[in-house]
Amino acid sequence: MPIKIPIFNNKQQRKDSFYDSEGTIPGHIAIIMDGNGRWAEKRSMPRIYGHKEGVSALTKIVEAAVKCKVKMLTLYAFSTENWKRPKSEIDYILRLPKEFLHIYLPDLISNNVRISTIGDMKDLPASTSEAVQYAMDRTRDNDGLQLNIALNYGSRHEIVGAIKNILTDINNSALSLDELDEQKFSGYLYTEGLPEPDLLIRTGGEKRLSNFLLWQLAYTEFWFTDILWPDFSQEEFFRAMEEYQRRQRRYGGI
Ligand code: FPP
Repeated sequence: MPIKIPIFNNKQQRKDSFYDSEGTIPGHIAIIMDGNGRWAEKRSMPRIYGHKEGVSALTKIVEAAVKCKVKMLTLYAFSTENWKRPKSEIDYILRLPKEFLHIYLPDLISNNVRISTIGDMKDLPASTSEAVQYAMDRTRDNDGLQLNIALNYGSRHEIVGAIKNILTDINNSALSLDELDEQKFSGYLYTEGLPEPDLLIRTGGEKRLSNFLLWQLAYTEFWFTDILWPDFSQEEFFRAMEEYQRRQRRYGGI
């Protein structure tokens, strides 16, 4: 069954024409899905309710990305710093990927979506890593949207890990110091072989990177919104892409 695309009202139909526009669709969009806790607290609900609604928002954005033929979507689902949260909240967030995949994996498969992850999977609960691994195996050959989930991901942890592996390879003569350049270094990161994000979206009003893809975002266009993640809609997603289309990317040139 294909992912259901909501029926667009008039205002949204205008946005719908965006898909066929001449503008460039960002190939890789990275998203910091912030504001779930505040969204719930505003409603006098427990914070985990915000994370539950966050998954609904995520589902809509995946639908929109499939429809727009975005090549890659990287979602910051759980950071290396999120272990500082109460255990009950951590346990809840880390159950969500399995629940999401349990419901949507058939839809994702029929829409040619490929699941991948970045982050240190070995410290995740086995039920989470197994569910994600299963989805990765089942979608390995799909060549539509790559849905890349950042789980137990932290950029500094990633960079230190890369340096350790580089030093090991130099010690073993598998790599020489002269060979090491930016491209080689990138190959030691979790994002090995992936394109760098074209557009970073952060919801929830904060304007910071929170240890997300520090190396990979060097030339990415940033788009911030005060909207809390559970309220983030397909229309806002298209707005971010339209703004991206108006940006001039010069990569340090003129
Ligand atoms: C940040 O909001 C959000 C998180 C730490 C968790 C995000 C996770 C999901 C939306 C679900 C992931 C599931 C899948 C399937 C990938 P916050 O709690 O920091 O919000 P606050 O700033 O309002 O407190």
